[in-house]
Amino acid sequence: MEQLEVIKITEDAKSLIILDQTQLPNHEEYLTLQTKEEMWKAIKLLQVRGAPAIGVFAGYAMAVLAQHYPYDSYDAFKKAFDQDADYLNTSRPTAVNLSWALNRMKAFVEANVIDVAAIKVKLVEEAKTIDKENLVMNQKIAEYGVTLLKDGDGILTHCNAGYLACLGYGTATAPMYLAHEKGMNIHVYSDETRPLLQGARLTSYELFKAGIDVTSICDNMASIVMKQGKIQCVMVGCDRIAANGDFANKIGTSGVAILAKHYGIPFYTLGPSSTIDFNTKCGDDIHIEERDEEEVGSMWYKEPMILRDIKKYNPSFDVTDHSLLTAIVTERGIVYPPFDVNLKKLFNKE
Ligand code: MRU
Repeated sequence: MEQLEVIKITEDAKSLIILDQTQLPNHEEYLTLQTKEEMWKAIKLLQVRGAPAIGVFAGYAMAVLAQHYPYDSYDAFKKAFDQDADYLNTSRPTAVNLSWALNRMKAFVEANVIDVAAIKVKLVEEAKTIDKENLVMNQKIAEYGVTLLKDGDGILTHCNAGYLACLGYGTATAPMYLAHEKGMNIHVYSDETRPLLQGARLTSYELFKAGIDVTSICDNMASIVMKQGKIQCVMVGCDRIAANGDFANKIGTSGVAILAKHYGIPFYTLGPSSTIDFNTKCGDDIHIEERDEEEVGSMWYKEPMILRDIKKYNPSFDVTDHSLLTAIVTERGIVYPPFDVNLKKLFNKE
């Protein structure tokens, strides 16, 4: 599968190179990052984005930052490492993969009380392991998810949970890519996903480039394509799944789930275990990121389309209630209700 490189650590491990996703689909540009401020900004501005990709990025970011520390003593090294990880963790609150990866890197340093030069090498290996594990999880999600599809199906997706957001097969797109490889005839409808247009700019772009039959629609067209019988299932990604199956995903996802319920269409979220947060009991406990009101009022337009003095509200995610979900597709299998019981069972949590 031909893909753009999304995140890459340089050979000397002193820099991180990322595809600037804010420039897609018209410009394929790369940024080179070295400082923690550049890395924080890259996450905040969505130059790198999507929950699993942010997790992989965070692993590499910590490995790169560590190479630049001037300390010889383990304690001074660890202190700087923990502070930088905590700083990066403030960039975006909703996607749990960010804190998941940062905590894993912190725990790795904690567990390796060794020579600083040796830890620096091992941290790069650990970041590469996170990256590889993520690719394997997406492959498994593809294999489980494709069993939910039939030849001729129309699939609606919202936002971008493809390779740009998750690397490899992506998550929501994983069954689509695999179905396409198997020669199945599928058709994807991609919601544009206001206000940042990840669906229009990114999902339709990557599926089209992969040769998958994709149609881009405005968010408010989801109901009509369902009513017209064009959609046999909905597949979306997730930024944090709570222990009871409620999950946060890009703003507008819960509305799509309500529509799917109305029309009797199966609704699936697909994500790796790094997106499941057993410490969050239910959706009410998920912190929803709010973004700049300029994204709602003026971004993409030659002139502001809402008068400056009019109030704007820009929550970036919403929570879909588990009662609207048909199943959750993970790398360990497909989880059906009751999610609070079955998620724990599958991941051996008590
Ligand atoms: O704000 P973004 O662009 O990082 O949004 C995340 C998303 O693209 C979606 O919510 C996605 O489904 C979850 S990430 C696989």
